[in-house]
Amino acid sequence: TRPKVFVTRSDIPQIGLDLLKAECDVTVWEQPSPVPRTELLRNIVGKDALFCTLCDKIDSDVLEKASPSLKVIGTMSVGYDHIDVGGCKAQGIRVGYTPDVLTDATAELTMALLLATTRRLFEANKEVYNGGWKSWAPTWMCGQGLKGSTVGIVGFGRIGQEVAKRIVPFKPSRILYTGRTERKSEAAEVNAEYVNFDILLKESDVVVVLCALSPETVNMFNEESFAKMKKSAVFINASRGAVVDQKALYEALRNGVITSAGLDVTTPEPLPVDDPLTKLSNIVILPHIGSADLRTRIEMSRITACNILQGIIGTQMIAEV
Ligand code: GLV
Ligand code: GLV
Repeated sequence: TRPKVFVTRSDIPQIGLDLLKAECDVTVWEQPSPVPRTELLRNIVGKDALFCTLCDKIDSDVLEKASPSLKVIGTMSVGYDHIDVGGCKAQGIRVGYTPDVLTDATAELTMALLLATTRRLFEANKEVYNGGWKSWAPTWMCGQGLKGSTVGIVGFGRIGQEVAKRIVPFKPSRILYTGRTERKSEAAEVNAEYVNFDILLKESDVVVVLCALSPETVNMFNEESFAKMKKSAVFINASRGAVVDQKALYEALRNGVITSAGLDVTTPEPLPVDDPLTKLSNIVILPHIGSADLRTRIEMSRITACNILQGIIGTQMIAEV
């Protein structure tokens, strides 16, 4: 009999669906939006594999419903904090994900956010349309460039390293990084210095967060950490919203504790349009589009399907958690 797979949304790039449909009985949540929780719990029953995204919380309730048939989960993402990996291991469920393929796209988007924030692109752009552009003016819309600045990278993994490489041509004075492990050879390539979290906060003009969400990194950016940063600091987060205490970020931006922020991730997602953060002018918020380059997303869909098929037959996955 063909393995049964549940796919949690219909608008994934076709290649992933085609690969799965060639080998499996595929049930797709036929809407271009995340499957509602009750439907996920209902549809997972009796399935051999699950194709999900970071919108789907795969917790112990889902795993309980999925037991004992579920053998593989493929998430179309590099992050897997939405999956109870410990629970999966305990049930013998293999988990595939999509690192590497989205590293460049996410590093690019992080650079875009960094430049947009430090040079105030979105604030300036609004002035063109709202009549605020009166004349060229000597100090109007001045930001701070990257040249000569100290850039601190929190989480020097694949993406953090690629961001560091892209920052080098902008001529920073220093690149600092912190993380669980010192990565000497990768750091040497970009002249990055390993420092502790406190030093990074104190010395960086720009703090760029690219770490995974884990019990160690949740709320890592809180009132205390923002207070340690320079008043002129720019804070960029392209990892997960939950690494930030968002209320503390709001207060820090409103009260001039730091200068500005650029976020590709928030809590919750989507961020309500009337969230206090949307009222601030010194923030750029993007709707979690780090990997949103079409070729990247097609590859992510393909790899997720391959991981699932490999998991089902019990061979090595392209990338397994
Ligand atoms: C995006 O945030 C991902 O984890 O792929
Ligand atoms: C994710 O790919 C990371 O290691 O930064």
